[in-house]
Amino acid sequence: MKLYILSKDKAYDCVACEIISLVTQYPDATLGLATGDTPIEIYKRMVEDHKQNHTSYQQIQTINLDEYVGLANDHPNSYRNYMHEHLFKHVDIDLEYTYFPSLESGFLKWMSQSIIHLQLLGIGNNGHIGFNEPGGSFESSVHEAVLTYETIQQNRKYFSSQVIMPKKAVTLGIKDIMKAQKIILVATGKHKASILKKMLEEPISNRLPASILKKHEHVTIYADFEAASLLDLSHSSYIKKEGFYEICN
Ligand code: F6R
Repeated sequence: MKLYILSKDKAYDCVACEIISLVTQYPDATLGLATGDTPIEIYKRMVEDHKQNHTSYQQIQTINLDEYVGLANDHPNSYRNYMHEHLFKHVDIDLEYTYFPSLESGFLKWMSQSIIHLQLLGIGNNGHIGFNEPGGSFESSVHEAVLTYETIQQNRKYFSSQVIMPKKAVTLGIKDIMKAQKIILVATGKHKASILKKMLEEPISNRLPASILKKHEHVTIYADFEAASLLDLSHSSYIKKEGFYEICN
């Protein structure tokens, strides 16, 4: 596992760069995408690059980590709408190949036949990835998840007072995420410092879903200085390399 600790802007630049170079090298790659606050600046950079350098998404397929249950695709709070506003409508992607988790057989078949080349992840304040909440199984695949109180609190800010926030979502499971060829997890801001420390420095446990990523062979974490501020970088599990840390468990 590699850990880069950078300024917030540099971290977003690097993640956008990694995605753009994958898309350039493999124009028909499948990208695993996330929503939330963290990726917004990354998608902005991808849009900027598309305008300036014409990086094409025409043959790219995308699969998002999760979608709320009970919201129409064009509902302002649906994750499809989020992706449309922040990325899809600004690039030349074919919307037919932009997938969101569902329990429909067509989707499950697509999922079982697909390889995610690069999975982008944020981390919830309780350690969730996708909507794989604490206590869930590491063997889970696509499933309906009941959101925890903490996640509802974390995401309520996006919903206007007139909208009842869904309490359920369909999410890729931990097993689906772990099958991705490469994973990039981004943690920025002081509010992510404590959970990032737990994820990296405590034993792997389903109480902290993101901790399972330590078992994946190709994970890169981009943290900004604030999110990394509580890490015990003098511990022998952090091996300093040129510009990053290698984390051994
Ligand atoms: C979003 C997702 C979630 C978020 C996590 C962090 O699709 O799957 O796991 O990545 O809740 O959210 P932010 O980036 O808003 O802190």
